[in-house]
Amino acid sequence: MNDLDQLVGAAQADFAAAATPAELENAKARYLGKAGQVTELLKGMAALSHEEKKTRGAEINQTKQRIEALLTARRQALAEAEMQAHLKAEALDVTLPGRQHGVGGLHPVSRTLERIEAIFGSMGFEVADGPEIEEDWFNFTALNTPADHPARSMHDTFYADTKAPDGSGHLLRTHTSPMQVRHAVQHVKRHAAALAAGQAMPEIRVIAPGRTYRVDSDATHSPMFHQCEGLWIGENVSFKDLKSVFADFFRNFFETDDLEIRFRPSFFPFTEPSAEVDIAFASGPLKGRWLEVAGSGQVHPNVVRNFGLDPERYIGFAFGMGPDRLTMLRYGVNDLRLFFDGDLRFLSQFK
Ligand code: FA5
Ligand code: MG
Repeated sequence: MNDLDQLVGAAQADFAAAATPAELENAKARYLGKAGQVTELLKGMAALSHEEKKTRGAEINQTKQRIEALLTARRQALAEAEMQAHLKAEALDVTLPGRQHGVGGLHPVSRTLERIEAIFGSMGFEVADGPEIEEDWFNFTALNTPADHPARSMHDTFYADTKAPDGSGHLLRTHTSPMQVRHAVQHVKRHAAALAAGQAMPEIRVIAPGRTYRVDSDATHSPMFHQCEGLWIGENVSFKDLKSVFADFFRNFFETDDLEIRFRPSFFPFTEPSAEVDIAFASGPLKGRWLEVAGSGQVHPNVVRNFGLDPERYIGFAFGMGPDRLTMLRYGVNDLRLFFDGDLRFLSQFK
């Protein structure tokens, strides 16, 4: 191997050792630069004879070309490697599942409340809303349940302040029944002129859904739960109307005629007579199991008086049903407290 072949070999090794384009340019300078080894060889030809110059010159030129070819090849290899590294770094795996925005859904009890409002809306009932922190007067006294009435003991709750001078403090409402009084009083006020003139008042037909609170906790009772109050007052509204309203409502709500409704005699201070409403399905997984879904009755004359109406002329019924229980039945859930645990594994099943 002559000195020129050795030079080509050295250049090849040097180029191969260059890991970046900048290093490669430095290596190039060592061979082809102004003070590079090939340039030095050319300068060294000055001392040669004319003949020798011819052959040596041709050999050196060939050497230069070989080194240039090696340089080009290495440049391309480095550029290619750089490109591959780039592609790898920016690689996009189109088979990965996309990032998704979690799609929320309505809470199952909210769905029930919407259905209740839609169905009663179609029967001509307004929807009213009222405070969850209620006055003792509306929650109890106005509903014919004065202080020390034994029925209060079944509605234990949080009392927010001591008795106000008028005898009524604030509490977390134990049912939506105070809305009967609040709404009726407003209605009577709106139609005060007609009433004073002895004219007929438009009927009161309203539902009032919302949250209620009691010291309760088992599979069918939660300390915070929902009720939906209903009130229908007119000059000729009877228990018969209550029955048909319930029959229509439940058949619509559960989308079946295959259910039985039972009115079970009961007691509420604010209705007389009173009944608990139970339902059972004649088929399906819940077949034959009775569940209480509402309390109801003909509004007591004392309460009608608290509405600001004459109980000799105005009569009607009220009910308070449990939307949480209706949700249990609709979806076949056996513990009502699951609705309020906030476990997404449970709740996302209703989306
Ligand atoms: C009442 O609360 C009466 N205010 C209902 C009423 C209104 C009667 C108007 C007459 C006229 P009761 O305590 O039974 O009644 O409750 C009514 C319904 O609310 C029950 O049938 C049940 O479906 C639901 N409910 C009661 N307590 C709870 C609870 N802790 N958790 C879930 N649902 C409940
Ligand atoms: Mg009851």
